[in-house]
Amino acid sequence: MSVTNIMVIGAGQMGGGIAQVCAMAGYNVFLNDLNDDALARGLAVITKNLSRQVEKGRMTEEDKLATLGRITNTTTLESAKEVDLVIEAAVENMDIKTKIFAQLDEIAPAHTILATNTSSLPITEIAAATNRPEKEIGMHFMNPVPVMKLVEIIRGLATADEVYETIEDITKKLNKVPVEVNDFPGFVSNRILMPMINEAIYTVYEGVATPEAIDEVMKLGMNHPMGPLTLADFIGLDTCLYIMETLQEGFGDDKYRPCPLLRKYVKAGWLGKKSGRGFYNYN
Ligand code: CAA
Repeated sequence: MSVTNIMVIGAGQMGGGIAQVCAMAGYNVFLNDLNDDALARGLAVITKNLSRQVEKGRMTEEDKLATLGRITNTTTLESAKEVDLVIEAAVENMDIKTKIFAQLDEIAPAHTILATNTSSLPITEIAAATNRPEKEIGMHFMNPVPVMKLVEIIRGLATADEVYETIEDITKKLNKVPVEVNDFPGFVSNRILMPMINEAIYTVYEGVATPEAIDEVMKLGMNHPMGPLTLADFIGLDTCLYIMETLQEGFGDDKYRPCPLLRKYVKAGWLGKKSGRGFYNYN
C-alpha cells in the first residue's frame, strides 16, 4: 500500500512531533487540532526544532522551509478525504477517540489506514467504532518524538498483515525502529515503565527517600537518562495516573493500584512540567 499524504490529529507534544518527523521524511502532512491557537503553538515548536537542526548543520535552511511547506494546518476532519494514513494523537480518552474514529471512518477513503498513538487504550476497542477494523493499528511514538527511536506497533485483533507491513515500512522511513506487540493494556512500554514510575512515587509517599535521591539512584545506579520522577513530570502526572488506571482496570489486578500521592498531585493540578509543578518546581 503506498502512502503519500498523512493526517495527524492533535498538534500537542506528541502530535506535533509526529507531524514533524513525517514532514521531514517527505510525506505531505495535514496537521489537525480543534482551533488555530493550538495549531499555531504546535507549528511554533516544530519550527523551533527544525531551526535547531539548521543551526547544528544537520539540515539546510532550504530543507527546513520545504519541510514546513509540506505541513498544512486544518481544524476540520474533512481533510481525511485526501489522505492514505491518519495518525491520531488526541487526548487519551476512549469516548473522544471512538467519536473521532467513527467520523474518520465516514470521511476517509476505503483504502485509508487509521492509526492511533494511544499509549495504553485497547486498539481493538477503538477499531470496533469503525467498519474497517482490519485497517486499524496502534503506532505508539515515544516522547520527545523527534529524538526517540522506538515506535511500538500494536496489532489489534483484526489488523491485516498488509496494514502492519505498511506501517512497519513507514516507521523505517521516519528513521525509527518498529517493534511489534499485541494488544493488551499498556502494550509493552507502559506496562513496564508505569509500574516503575508508580513504585518511585510510593517510595516518596512512604518517606523512603526524597525525589532527588530516588532519581539519583536510578540515573547513576541504572544508567537511566532521567530519574523516574523527572520522567513522570516530563510525561505529565495526569497521563501517568490515567495509564495506571487503565492497567488496573484492564488486568483487574491491584498490583497496578495508582499511588495515592499521584492522585493527590493530579487533583491539586500538579501535573508536572506542563503545569509548572510536579515532583519538582519549574517556575
Ligand atoms: N524535542 C525535540 N528535541 C529534543 C527535546 C524535545 N522535547 N528534548 C531534547 N531534545 C534534543 C535536544 O535538542 C538535543 O539535541 P541535539 O543533539 O541537537 O543537541 C538532544 O535531544 C539531547 O538533549 P539534551 O542534551 O538537552 O538532554 P539529554 O541528553 O538529557 O536528552 C532526552 C534529553 C532525550 C529527553 C533524555 O533525557 C531521555 O532520553 N530521556 C528519557 C525519555 C524517555 O524515557 N521517553 C519515553 C517517555 S514514555 C513515552 O513517551 C510513552 C508514553 O506513552 C508515556
